[in-house]
Amino acid sequence: MRIPEEKIEEVRTAADIVDVVSGFVRLRKAGRNYTGLCPFHREKTPSFNVNPERGIFKCFGCGKGGNAFTFLMEMEKVSFVDAVEILAERYNIVLTREGRERPESREEIEQMYEANRLAARFFYDTLQGDAGAVGRAYFDKRGWNADTRRTFGLGYAPDSWHDFLNHARASGLGDDILETTGLIVRKEGGSTYDRFRGRVIFPILSVSRKVLGFGARTLKGDEQPKYLNSPETPVYVKSRVLYGLSQSHRAIRDVDSVILVEGYADLITLYQEGIENVISTSGTALTPEQVHLLSRYTRNFFFLYDADSAGMNAMLRGIDIILESDCDARIVELATGEDPDSYVRKFGAEKVQERVSGAVSFVDFVTARFQAEGRLDSPEGKAQVVHRIVELIAKMDDPIRREFYIRDISQKYGIYENLLYQELAKELRETKRERPAPRPVELLPESVPSADDTGGDIPREEKDFCTLLLQAPSELQGEVLHGIRSTHFRDARMRKLLHVLFEQEEHDGSIDTDALWSYVEDDVRMHGLLAEMLIERAPISERWEKEQVVRPTDNRRLLLDAYKRLLHRHVQQRRERLKEALRAETDDDRQRDLATRLQQLHTLDGAVKECESFPDLPEVEE
Ligand code: UTP
Ligand code: MN
Repeated sequence: MRIPEEKIEEVRTAADIVDVVSGFVRLRKAGRNYTGLCPFHREKTPSFNVNPERGIFKCFGCGKGGNAFTFLMEMEKVSFVDAVEILAERYNIVLTREGRERPESREEIEQMYEANRLAARFFYDTLQGDAGAVGRAYFDKRGWNADTRRTFGLGYAPDSWHDFLNHARASGLGDDILETTGLIVRKEGGSTYDRFRGRVIFPILSVSRKVLGFGARTLKGDEQPKYLNSPETPVYVKSRVLYGLSQSHRAIRDVDSVILVEGYADLITLYQEGIENVISTSGTALTPEQVHLLSRYTRNFFFLYDADSAGMNAMLRGIDIILESDCDARIVELATGEDPDSYVRKFGAEKVQERVSGAVSFVDFVTARFQAEGRLDSPEGKAQVVHRIVELIAKMDDPIRREFYIRDISQKYGIYENLLYQELAKELRETKRERPAPRPVELLPESVPSADDTGGDIPREEKDFCTLLLQAPSELQGEVLHGIRSTHFRDARMRKLLHVLFEQEEHDGSIDTDALWSYVEDDVRMHGLLAEMLIERAPISERWEKEQVVRPTDNRRLLLDAYKRLLHRHVQQRRERLKEALRAETDDDRQRDLATRLQQLHTLDGAVKECESFPDLPEVEE
């Protein structure tokens, strides 16, 4: 499975970041960089930057950044290895692999997409022809116009056992690939026939408009199943797919909310009536992957469900996942017996929008349900309800949100805030115990443990210094590296970065910032950080210019000042600790000792301020 490091490097250098990004974002040249509207968050003015020389992108709005691999990983939600493979193929680099091949080769996957694409085209064309008359009549009856049919690529599968099979064979596709894609079925004896027959077809697309599979609805009232779907395949992993996202993701991002419905038909009717920020869960409970996928576009979820449906219950099971992902869930209940499709037809889109604006929070929804069941009437019932609600609230990471909901419930249902907080504290203790320990940052195996290892904010001075260092001319990089100590950095990521630089300098006698990528492999956060530090950005020097009154081009001065600041902070922190110790100390001798150390540090701090170059910087003892 492993791709050798040199190969990864070869692909990274070959990949043209502007070319890769242009597949998704309209870029405009701006000096040495390109800019455009960030594909990862909503914005009106471009803060998304691409630097072709270094092969990196960075959005100063949402903070995402990295190289061509990172871009594909974030955009297409693929793994690091997949991203390397996709780009290798695009730039004609043959990947030699170490170890076992994957069961489905890239080639086989491509063939499956090809088979699905061919099938979608075939069903679509059939709908327009003579054999498609029944299908057209059905769509007419549902009120889906020509535009809608095109947008969703709706089709019709002829009522025949071999029409598609023959068509696919004539196009050069083998039975094997058609079978693994689920388009044809093989009987015991080995003969094969079309899976979808005499049904209207709903192709299921990925965000990048690849055909993943199909849903096929019967036209006969009593035929089972009502919807026949493609089986799970390597390209159609149901837990990761949401019907309609391909058409609706832009609207979801623009409106910053998503409406979840159960059915294919619900989605299509809402979309046609102008409510475009909608996806369908296809009658199943939401999975963590689906929530994650959606959270790329918005964190505001609205459920629009039939009050009595099985889907509503499935949805309730999904709430935990949504809250854990730091998303917000609101619920619109429709009258029993109505689904969004029938509701829009009866009352119109405006009425739906009205109901969505009046959606209740999940807490209200759950509480109201319990109340309706009479469970708030007895003390024991009430205790259970409180427990369940607090359990949900405990899933939220944000204490302010938790507080908001606690106050809200307390007021609405007359439950003491104190009681709710007590429960919450208990719940939080338990969830903490249940949660697996945070994954150690693999990037930093040999780092000294420190408060910042877990990935908090990097101290400003440290990041500024490292950024300047990475962007400095190479002679200066060497000089600086000889003058500094990595132990003066508190942040483990910065220390690691410096270690890599020290190593390079020692080995090759110079720094190659591009080679840093191979040390961060698939660590997306580190990609973002590196991109941010490598991309040329004026504001840093501007800020410095104001504070330091030096020419922004005087890199050496900037670096020295940055490092002095860092040392100053380092000394300050040591002094604080000493003072603390001094206050607690009762023994006279030791007190005198500490006071002397404190005085020494004070002198040292003065010396740091005075010095004019790296070599005469005083040593700050650990
Ligand atoms: P519904 O039975 O509510 O269907 O199932 P619907 O969407 O309202 O369909 P119409 O209006 O009768 O055409 C909701 C969803 O559950 C999945 C489908 O995704 C459907 O849209 N489903 C339902 C199946 O996959 N198979 C089935 O047999 C039934
Ligand atoms: Mn329906």
